[in-house]
Amino acid sequence: MNVLGIDIGGSGMKGAIVNTATGEMLTKRFRIPTPEGRKPKDMAKVVNKIVKHFDHKGPVGVGFPTIIKHGVCKSPGNLHKKWLNTNVHELFSEATGLPVIVINDADAAGYATMNYGTGKGKKGLVIMITIGTGLGSGAFLDGELLPNFEMGQIPYKKYDKIEMWASNAAMERDNLSYKKWGKRFNKFLKYVDTLICPDLIILGGGASKDFEEYKDCITIDTPVVPAELQNHAGIIGAAAAAIHQAPKD
Ligand code: BGC
Repeated sequence: MNVLGIDIGGSGMKGAIVNTATGEMLTKRFRIPTPEGRKPKDMAKVVNKIVKHFDHKGPVGVGFPTIIKHGVCKSPGNLHKKWLNTNVHELFSEATGLPVIVINDADAAGYATMNYGTGKGKKGLVIMITIGTGLGSGAFLDGELLPNFEMGQIPYKKYDKIEMWASNAAMERDNLSYKKWGKRFNKFLKYVDTLICPDLIILGGGASKDFEEYKDCITIDTPVVPAELQNHAGIIGAAAAAIHQAPKD
């Protein structure tokens, strides 16, 4: 089925039409910068613009960069505080007039890798970590999503959450080399490993494509591999979510 996948981030909102049988993107990616202020109504308008750009009439899947519980935003994360308790599912469905499924962005990226990529057919506990403005995590047990694992929210030293110290944004902010940042990221992976003991960790997001640069910093025993869908995983996985999570009647 052809589904519009939309990946929402703090700086950009990106969409493409995806063939959910194969995970292939059938169009080029279309990107609009996230409106300043990152408020619900403004962002809903952009979602509708992306729908109009593709003249899309079918299902839409959206990956959203905060905790999403049954369609409702349960933490504003790096967005405007008005998002807290907003029913994102309803807001986007009304803005577009289409059936929209909304899930956490890292859960969406995980759907991509588990359905079409490195994670396909992998049993046990597989964790997708997305490295970007924050550190997102998506957990899959025998291929089934356990929504809203938020490993990036672990407090660390003076930071409210470890993602503020070990994300891609932190690397840029503190002007770190991959070697230096890799040590921080390894510390984060050690927490993940100790707390939930996964069978496999798959890395996505910006820094995953440069894995060779920091892979020697990773010392945990659990296998850690980069996802091959990288930057498109958010869009492809959001589209896959629209199929997996569509209401059954
Ligand atoms: C949020 C997560 C999100 C991640 C990546 C974090 O700040 O808490 O829900 O998946 O950023 O966007």
